[in-house]
Amino acid sequence: MRLDIITVLPEMIEGFFNCSILKRAQNKGIVEISIHNLRDYTTDRYRKVDDYPFGGCAGMVMKIEPIDRCISALKAERSYDEVIFTTPDGEQFTQKTANALSLCNNLIILCGHFKGIDYRIREHLITKEISIGDYVLTGGELAAAAIADAVIRVIPGVISDEQSALSDSFQDNLLAPPVYTRPADYKGWKVPDVLLSGHEAKIRDWEFQQSLERTQRLRPDLLVDSINDNILHDGK
Ligand code: ADE
Repeated sequence: MRLDIITVLPEMIEGFFNCSILKRAQNKGIVEISIHNLRDYTTDRYRKVDDYPFGGCAGMVMKIEPIDRCISALKAERSYDEVIFTTPDGEQFTQKTANALSLCNNLIILCGHFKGIDYRIREHLITKEISIGDYVLTGGELAAAAIADAVIRVIPGVISDEQSALSDSFQDNLLAPPVYTRPADYKGWKVPDVLLSGHEAKIRDWEFQQSLERTQRLRPDLLVDSINDNILHDGK
């Protein structure tokens, strides 16, 4: 997968992509990540990427030209599956979206900033608008990093034990079961006996019951989503 991120603050996320699983995914040649400074695409001598909004409301708006120039330059090199814009009024990002995006070959993520971007960009260039939650961040960079991380870690081969990405919380609309490691008894705080029993079927069953119980208690909305998904699937 090739991922191009367009931002006015490249330094905010560069370090993020040079660590841990994301760095390994790049070293293995599974993903190529390129971060573009929007200011490199201005013709303005002050490298300005924002301007006052028409209509006189407060805040600055990201200008159309540098964004169009940057996206056009990228599209001249290859075709993209999606041009994503990170914005609090986008569709809510979920594991399902991450899984679907992990199947793409080429993605662009445009990070929003200031009061917003000239709406014509959203109308003509953006194919998907994503929010990572109902709160407003200073910019879309953290959202882009979160999306990239969630997408890349489910690409086959990125995590060596593939099972470990598949057993994450939210895969199958269930929260993950609790996990433990040595020592089995710490100050009298004991690991559940079943995990030490060596009985594979009983362990899997215990994990599933734990997942179900934690989801019911902490995120009952996920079970409702799951039921609705199944009804939709059965209806097809
Ligand atoms: N930009 C600012 N806030 C955001 C959010 N919650 N999600 C995505 N992009 C954003």
